[in-house]
Amino acid sequence: MKKTSNKVVLIGAGAVGTSFMYSAINQGIASDYVLIDAFPQAAQGNALDLADTMAVLPVPFTSIKAGDYSDCGDADVIVITAGRPQKEGETRLEMVAGNAVIMKSIAEEVKKSGFKGITVIASNPVDVLTLVYQEVTGFDQHKVIGSGTTLDSARLRRLLADKLNVGAESVDAFLAGEHGDSSVAVWSHASVMGQPISKYIADGTITQADLDQIREEAVHMAYKIIELKRATFYGIGVCLAKIVKAVLRNERTTLMVGAKLNGEYGNKDLFTGVPAIIGQNGWEAIIEWNLTENEQNLFNQSCATLSTTIAKARE
Ligand code: 2OP
Repeated sequence: MKKTSNKVVLIGAGAVGTSFMYSAINQGIASDYVLIDAFPQAAQGNALDLADTMAVLPVPFTSIKAGDYSDCGDADVIVITAGRPQKEGETRLEMVAGNAVIMKSIAEEVKKSGFKGITVIASNPVDVLTLVYQEVTGFDQHKVIGSGTTLDSARLRRLLADKLNVGAESVDAFLAGEHGDSSVAVWSHASVMGQPISKYIADGTITQADLDQIREEAVHMAYKIIELKRATFYGIGVCLAKIVKAVLRNERTTLMVGAKLNGEYGNKDLFTGVPAIIGQNGWEAIIEWNLTENEQNLFNQSCATLSTTIAKARE
């Protein structure tokens, strides 16, 4: 019989996880939702709060409830946002020790449940923790997706769009590599409706210094938001919903997700933000751009930074 429903399990019902849920139910991307949290009351309270939307949403869903790892067995997608939050001024990489331990125990539980679907991970440092999860579960690498630089790229697009006075959706611009301080702005592939950014530089609309400043602003956006309100969650919540929707609807959408490199872009054995095609089988293929020499060097440095942190996660 053809399956007509989709089940999404969220592990980590904090601000990021519930922002994802809120975005997902508003977009009607699945029929059944389960929330798991180390503090069961947080899962229960959020499930009840979100269930209050059921009667009034434009696209209703079937059920939302608090659950446990036994709910993972028949899920289509698991979204993991668990981990301790980033402190003011702290880098994502500095969070690795505690969050790697949490991710390992989640991975063991998910593996035991018999889960066969796609996992989407946003817990930080996301590139490192996505690898930890994939190694501990032994799941097919394509079925494990990190949020990568989806959010970083969304920030870059908005900031560039403001400068060029066009809608953010009309701008293609990408941060690749680490979801964090070493991410690389791939300006050689930035464009507006097919018009490369180099044309805007040539006609004096924007300068390289403007682009450098936009990259800095995008990379520091999380620090700024955390300083102002102690956490970021809406942006990442919507990015996660976009990735999960692409999987459940087999959209084959291209996004800057965390995919595992096996020689692509001259690097291997790590997950990091690269352009990839997302569909029902997870990240199905990595798109390999021709980077400029400078972009490639920066990308290599970003991967080297991640490798150092991966070694720490393994300690
Ligand atoms: C963000 O970039 C903190 O990783 C989180 O918003």
